[in-house]
Amino acid sequence: MTLLLSRSDVMSVLTMKDCMVAVERAFAELSRGTALLPLRTAISPPGGLSLYMPAYLKEMKALAIKVVTIYKENPARFQYPVVMGKVLLQDPESGDVVCIMDGGYLTAVRTGAASGVATRYLARQQEGQMAAVFGTGVQARMQLLAVAEARTLSKALVYDISRESALAFVAELAPKVSFPVLIATDPRELLEADIICTATSSATPLFDGSRVRPGTHINGIGSHTPNARELDTALVKRSRFIGDSREACFGEAGDLLIPIREGAITDGHYYADLGEIITGSKTGRENDEEITLFKSNGLAIQDAATAKLVYEKAITAGIGTMVDI
Ligand SMILES: NC(=O)c1ccc[n+]([C@@H]2O[C@H](COP(=O)([O-])OP(=O)(O)OC[C@H]3O[C@@H](n4cnc5c(N)ncnc54)[C@H](O)[C@@H]3O)[C@@H](O)[C@H]2O)c1
Repeated sequence: MTLLLSRSDVMSVLTMKDCMVAVERAFAELSRGTALLPLRTAISPPGGLSLYMPAYLKEMKALAIKVVTIYKENPARFQYPVVMGKVLLQDPESGDVVCIMDGGYLTAVRTGAASGVATRYLARQQEGQMAAVFGTGVQARMQLLAVAEARTLSKALVYDISRESALAFVAELAPKVSFPVLIATDPRELLEADIICTATSSATPLFDGSRVRPGTHINGIGSHTPNARELDTALVKRSRFIGDSREACFGEAGDLLIPIREGAITDGHYYADLGEIITGSKTGRENDEEITLFKSNGLAIQDAATAKLVYEKAITAGIGTMVDI
């Protein structure tokens, strides 16, 4: 039997707190060598892009593949979103597909969870820190909730080129957190923050990295192609650079690759994978003056770990629809 879980089913069982535990374990498995993470496969049918992201986590017994599609004409042609995703979870012992679930909300939570885990390991320890989020779209919401899970925040400041989007963000997030969420009129105001998340669709740097304060932690989750970046060379050069995976960063992350191409840094500037910090094989922040930077490209291990968590919670709660395929 296969369990079908809709977006609202996934939303009803998946919390950021639990997802951060699962994602932390997944990154640790990747670092210890008990995860299998083949490269993402891409197919381009006319008018769209279809991505296939498989992963297996041995210790967590999680085997899954996510199918993500990006079809720009979808809203006009079919009233579908541009980006859609579904996750197919298997029983690693029999190979049987035990669950098919919506992947949209799951992706946002697992992406937030990676930033939350990175923040927990890398940001300064002080209470009452200020967070800032560039972008107020789908991912940005979960970035703020994850950072709030990792540190006690006193305030959050957000900026988006779309004021409408920023207003909707505040209306949705303010009731969910215990600190004020404010909209900045100038993106430079966000550089006062202790923890900065960048979660935009921009392909060019969002701010002048030379103005970032010492001690800041940054989660960069947006751009993920070799020629696009949200973070400038000055910031990357000043930062201790931690990625979700070396392979993904050197394959996809313009934030790292452009400064290397410019000759501003060398390959050796890549300091560690997040999993190496979690397992303790590499040390994290060295002092309160250092700028730490986590670059997230998004890995299928995050999806597999989160899908397993969602499936187990759904079975316990008795939600979803069982079908005999
Ligand atoms: N790292 C990961 O695992 C991961 C996972 C999913 C999505 N992403 C990426 O995250 C980014 C955001 O995705 P989303 O789903 O939230 O998109 P979205 O379209 O919902 O939101 C993007 C927001 O960025 C804003 N924006 C664009 N340029 C800006 C700028 N210069 N300054 C401030 N705001 C700006 C837009 O107005 C929009 O509100 C995309 O690049 C996406 O590919 C990364």
